[in-house]
Amino acid sequence: MTELTHLAPISGENGEKNTRRAFLVAAGAAGVAYTAALAYPIYRYLASPEEMASNAVAVTEVTLKDAQKLPLGSVLMFKFGPSPALLIHHQDGRWISMTAVCAHLGCTVQYEPQADRIHCACHGGVYNPYTGENVSGPPPKPLKLFKVAVNDAGVNISRA
Ligand code: FES
Repeated sequence: MTELTHLAPISGENGEKNTRRAFLVAAGAAGVAYTAALAYPIYRYLASPEEMASNAVAVTEVTLKDAQKLPLGSVLMFKFGPSPALLIHHQDGRWISMTAVCAHLGCTVQYEPQADRIHCACHGGVYNPYTGENVSGPPPKPLKLFKVAVNDAGVNISRA
């Protein structure tokens, strides 16, 4: 029969220290993971829509093929980089484009042709559909306008 004299005792002062240390390391790691899991959604909530957009790759121009055929009084939602945006062909023939990211907490706004306004359903924010100015509700500033160039192939939209 073989003796197991080379193994360390599993109890006693050294064994208890190792067990306590392993428990503290595991508890510390779990605490860090728990804190990170709580902190990230809070960061996302507190970060402004502009800050989140600036973390994305900067897109300066978008061409919307065949968008010149958009009827009067219609709107086209499109992506300007990672963010939603609006192209409005107003009844008076003007073309207006702006971000569709609400300046309040970043919800996507909608153009309402019958009311001729841009509305954010999250908290009732209202914007002017020609200038992007915040008209009522909680949005603290206007929607950012883009430059629009219409040609036979489509509509080119770029940062103003
Ligand atoms: S997110 Fe648009 S009004 Fe609050």
